[in-house]
Amino acid sequence: MSDQQALLARASRLFPGGVLGSHRSGTGLEFVVREARGAHLWDVAGRRYIDYLLGSGPMLLGHAHPAVVEAVERQLGRGTTYMLLNEPIIELAEEIVRAVPCAEQVRFTSSGSEATFFALRVARAYRGRDKILKFEGGFHGTHDYALMSVSPRTPKAFPAATPDSGGIPHALQGEVLIAPYNDLATAEAIIDAHHDELAAVIIEPYQRVIVPAPGFLTGVRTATRRHGVPLVFDEIVTGFRLAYGGAQEYYGVVPDLAAFGKVLAGGFPLAAVAGPAEIMRHLDAALEGTPQYVWQAGTLNGNPVAAVAGLATLAELRRPGTYERLFRTGARLREGLAAAARRHGLAAQVSGEAPVFDIIFTDHEVVDYRATLTADRDRIRRFNEECVRHGVIKAANKIYVSLAHTDADVDETLEVFDRILAGIAR
Ligand SMILES: Cc1ncc(COP(=O)(O)O)c(C=O)c1O
Repeated sequence: MSDQQALLARASRLFPGGVLGSHRSGTGLEFVVREARGAHLWDVAGRRYIDYLLGSGPMLLGHAHPAVVEAVERQLGRGTTYMLLNEPIIELAEEIVRAVPCAEQVRFTSSGSEATFFALRVARAYRGRDKILKFEGGFHGTHDYALMSVSPRTPKAFPAATPDSGGIPHALQGEVLIAPYNDLATAEAIIDAHHDELAAVIIEPYQRVIVPAPGFLTGVRTATRRHGVPLVFDEIVTGFRLAYGGAQEYYGVVPDLAAFGKVLAGGFPLAAVAGPAEIMRHLDAALEGTPQYVWQAGTLNGNPVAAVAGLATLAELRRPGTYERLFRTGARLREGLAAAARRHGLAAQVSGEAPVFDIIFTDHEVVDYRATLTADRDRIRRFNEECVRHGVIKAANKIYVSLAHTDADVDETLEVFDRILAGIAR
């Protein structure tokens, strides 16, 4: 048995399904990472992969970026966590406030799931209402309110929610309303009908790899503002990726609250909720003992190692020309993939913005979750598995692009895509 096979055998005994729960490579394609640098990963057997998973998005600079490594090494000798105010975390909060239009104040959490969870809790305290509205197909992490109608096989009539996981209390199903993404008339009608019960509307402004239709985000913003319902942008994927100021800068629509994670902490466990003092004040301990007070705490919140990694990442992103380069690389890969699908006569859409997109095997235009249900699931599974076989790693439903991907990486990847799509078309 090779070292890698032995490790995989140990993992299969230790972890349910043999995996960490977030990513599956496919049966027989599992591997164990030895190290990662730039746009590449190596497994324990020494095989190299071009990485478009990027740790599920955080590694926008690529792996082991020298500026991030240096900042982290410097901090390690000063202590790794304090649960107390520290200079790096204050600086990171300042940088969020500088970068993000809706951000006046910030609270840090350890994961994106916690960030959306606390954004919804603080919105409930502010509004004095319980229900939330989310969009079908939108993903906001794995807490009980978020795992509703993310990927229902047989969607219900709007606004009824379908839980995506076992173990979610039945009582919560009625607390979440579901609206269709990119269908402003229906979303508006649900908001108008239920505004008096709604604590918040939460949305991925760019939902998975579906681009908002012109006027959709503005319409949702107008409808929520009309009724005083806080609008929450889940910017965990889009933050610092679509633009330095996130989707709210990129699409020009400013929410009340926003959740950030992934790129913000450059590959360390840290995320954030940001918003106006008028809402964020509910997190102030001066309100303790009143129903206004929102309890938000966590052992690793404000972690200085994650903060310096985030600060180093953001400093690199502020260099002139960074986003132009990211969009150029992503557009080359996206257009090349679309051209290959056309060349092989496949019914496919390459959907999304240049920094993160994917191929969806359908001849329907992908404007919402239900359009994704028309996709050939077997083909996407084959595509993903063939990528691994050919030394390319991607997320199950995303291709994340980094600043470390070179033209040579893109050329090599496009050759792989072409070969795989030729096989799928046969
Ligand atoms: C849009 C979005 N929101 C929330 C989350 C949850 O973040 P985390 O995995 O850090 O809990 C994710 C994770 O992929 C995400 O893509």
